[in-house]
Formats: sequence, structure tokens, C-alpha cells
Amino acid sequence: MLVSDYINSRQRRVGRASIKRSLAALFALMIGLGGMMSVSSVHAEVPNAVPPKGDHQGEDVPQPIEFPHDIHADINGINCMYCHTYARRSKVAGIPPTSKCMGCHSVIATDKPRIQKLTEYWENKESPQWNKVHDVPDFVHFTHEKHLQRFVFNNEGMDVDNVSEVCAFCHGDVKKMTVAHKVKPLNMGFCVRCHEANEGPSDCWKCHK
Ligand code: HEC
Ligand code: HEC
Ligand code: HEC
Ligand code: HEC
Ligand code: HEC
Repeated sequence: MLVSDYINSRQRRVGRASIKRSLAALFALMIGLGGMMSVSSVHAEVPNAVPPKGDHQGEDVPQPIEFPHDIHADINGINCMYCHTYARRSKVAGIPPTSKCMGCHSVIATDKPRIQKLTEYWENKESPQWNKVHDVPDFVHFTHEKHLQRFVFNNEGMDVDNVSEVCAFCHGDVKKMTVAHKVKPLNMGFCVRCHEANEGPSDCWKCHK
């Protein structure tokens, strides 16, 4: 197939996908208005993806402030990529700067001890030193971008609102966590199994540069 044909067929698919997405949004709105849908009960599968298997209960990592993912991502429905802005376009996902927190917390929950601690950091022009929860050895090459492009943005039928399902392949159900912890092994077998199931690269040098 010519590259230009490939790109054209891609664009047609993306066009159809966005129409589908608008219809899905309209449908969700209609059901929502009917008051019949509880958002948390809907757990769609990511189309065109075979997630890897295997769990691993990691150690809880101490953090300067215990950051509750459940309150933000689940109860208040904030999209993962609102805070982890870089995941779609770079190697790293990124932890949000304190200024982003203060956009809300200069007015929200200002009486809570953890928010007072956060405000103290902010006023001292410091950032909390968040500790790493997930870490692969330096000889492993990993990039968020390729995975998010493949499983979210170039995945027909996948709604960006459901991105947390893709994050969950490698990080578990973070939106239910009161403190982020590692639940997936992220070892070579884990990565390779998913590459085999989803036509990801199998060359050693793709993951070991
Ligand atoms: C309001 C901002 C915010 C939102 C929304 C948010 N996060 Fe986070 N996330 C953080 C902060 C702050 C940390 C650092 C503290 C920690 O690790 O507990 C973090 C840490 C993480 C980590 C651990 C990083 C490491 O060190 O390995 C993962 C994984 C993660 N978030 C995934 C997600 C996923 C998946 C979602 C959506 C379900 C999400 N986050 C939504 C702010 C956010
Ligand atoms: C889009 C708005 C928004 C952003 C951005 C945001 N939060 Fe929150 N956060 C909330 C809301 C809403 C609550 C729940 C408040 C309540 O229950 O009264 C909350 C609760 C919290 C709590 C729990 C407070 C308690 O003890 O009950 C912590 C800790 C917290 N946020 C830390 C952070 C940090 C750190 C950041 C930046 C990485 C952040 N938040 C960014 C909206 C936000
Ligand atoms: C295909 C697996 C995979 C997916 C999907 C994935 N991650 Fe990661 N993530 C990793 C790995 C592996 C690391 C550790 C990287 C390292 O040590 O260099 C990591 C690290 C992180 C970190 C901490 C370091 C950084 O990059 O900032 C955050 C935050 C994070 N991921 C958030 C997310 C969010 C949010 C999503 C969904 C939007 C997501 N991840 C999707 C595998 C994944
Ligand atoms: C959910 C399934 C899945 C998991 C888990 C997964 N990958 Fe991937 N990965 C893919 C797919 C599919 C691609 C191909 C994306 C594309 O090119 O469109 C890919 C692409 C990549 C690439 C880009 C290669 C290039 O072309 O430059 C690297 C590097 C990579 N993965 C490393 C890893 C590592 C390391 C892990 C484990 C920590 C991992 N992946 C876990 C599915 C996965
Ligand atoms: C999809 C990504 C991926 C591919 C492809 C891959 N590896 Fe790995 N490899 C990893 C990850 C991730 C680790 C780190 C394992 C850990 O932290 O436990 C690793 C670890 C290793 C190690 C260190 C020893 C160990 O088992 O921990 C060696 C040696 C290695 N890989 C060799 C290879 C060779 C040879 C190939 C080609 C046949 C290959 N890898 C292909 C992801 C990959």
C-alpha cells in the first residue's frame, strides 16, 4: 500500500470515528437526561486493544502530601490528561505544577490540613517533592506518546473521556486509589506480551536503546 493511500484511509477512519464520537456523546446526554445512567457503572472496553495480564502489589510510596486520585479523577471526574498533560505527546506523562493545584485550591477545601500544607508550599514558592511510584530501569526505553496515540487518539470508537482505561493497562485503576501505588509488574514479559497481542514492535532495540 502506498504511504499516501495509508494516510488517506487513516483520515477517513478518523473522520468516521469523530462522527461516531459525537453520536455517542449525544446518546450519553439523552440517557443522562433520563437520569438512568450512573457513570461509574459503565465500564467500556478499549476497542482494538488486548490489555496485558498480571498484577503486582507494589509497596506504598510515601508522599509529601497524600494526593487522593479518587477524589479528583473519580468523584470530580477530572480527566487524567488534565493533570498529566504530556502523556499524549512525550515520553513522560508529567506531574502537574503546584500552580495548577492552586487554580482550584486557592478556593476549594482551604480549611483542610492537606490543602493548608499545599498552600504553604505555594507561598514559599516550593513544589512538593513527589516520589516515583513507577520506574523502569534506565536501559529500558519507554514512551507514553506512542501508547496513547495508538490506544486513544488513533483508536476508532475510543472516547478520550475514557482515557483512564488505557492508563489502567499499565497503572491499574488509579481513579479508585486514595494514594497512587504500583499494581502492574512493568517487567519485560508484561511489555512483550502486550506487544505480541497488539502488533507492537518486538525488536530488542525498540525497548533497549
Ligand atoms: C488533579 C490532578 C491529577 C489528576 C486529575 C490525576 N492525577 Fe495522577 N498524579 C497527580 C499527582 C499530584 C501525582 C503525584 C503524587 C502521587 O504519586 O501520588 C500523581 C501521580 C500519578 C501516578 C504515579 C506516578 C509515578 O510516580 O509513577 C500515576 C500512574 C498517575 N498519577 C496516573 C493518573 C491517572 C491514570 C489519572 C486518571 C485516572 C490521574 N493520574 C489523574 C495528579 C493528578
Ligand atoms: C479542577 C480542580 C482541582 C484541581 C486542579 C486540584 N484539585 Fe484537589 N480537590 C478538588 C476538589 C473538588 C476536592 C474535594 C474537596 C472537598 O471534598 O471539599 C479536592 C481535594 C483535594 C485533597 C483532599 C483534601 C482533604 O483533606 O479532604 C487534596 C490533598 C488535594 N485535593 C490536593 C490537590 C493537589 C496536590 C493538586 C495538584 C496536583 C490538586 N488537588 C488539584 C479539586 C481540584
Ligand atoms: C503501556 C504502558 C503505559 C501506559 C498505557 C501509561 N503508562 Fe504511565 N508509565 C508507564 C511506565 C513504564 C512508567 C515508568 C517510566 C520510567 O520509569 O521511565 C510510567 C510512568 C508514569 C508517570 C510518572 C513519570 C512520568 O512519566 O511523568 C506518570 C505520572 C504516568 N505514568 C501517568 C500515566 C497516565 C496519566 C497515563 C494515561 C493517560 C499513563 N501513564 C499510561 C507505563 C504506561
Ligand atoms: C497495552 C499494550 C502495551 C503495553 C502494556 C506496552 N506496550 Fe509498548 N507498544 C504497544 C503498541 C501496540 C505499540 C505500537 C504503537 C504504534 O506504533 O502505533 C507500542 C510501542 C512501543 C514503543 C515504540 C517503539 C517505536 O516504534 O519507537 C516502545 C519503545 C514501547 N512500546 C515500549 C514498551 C515498554 C518498555 C513497555 C512496558 C513497560 C510497553 N511498551 C508496554 C503496546 C503496549
Ligand atoms: C516491549 C519492550 C521490550 C522488548 C521488545 C524487549 N525487552 Fe528486554 N526488558 C524490557 C523491560 C521493561 C525490562 C526490565 C525488566 C525489569 O525491570 O524487571 C527488560 C529487561 C531486559 C534484560 C535484563 C534482565 C532481566 O530479565 O531483567 C535483558 C538482558 C533484556 N531485557 C534483553 C532483551 C532482549 C535480548 C530482547 C529481544 C529479544 C528484549 N530484551 C526485548 C522490555 C523489553
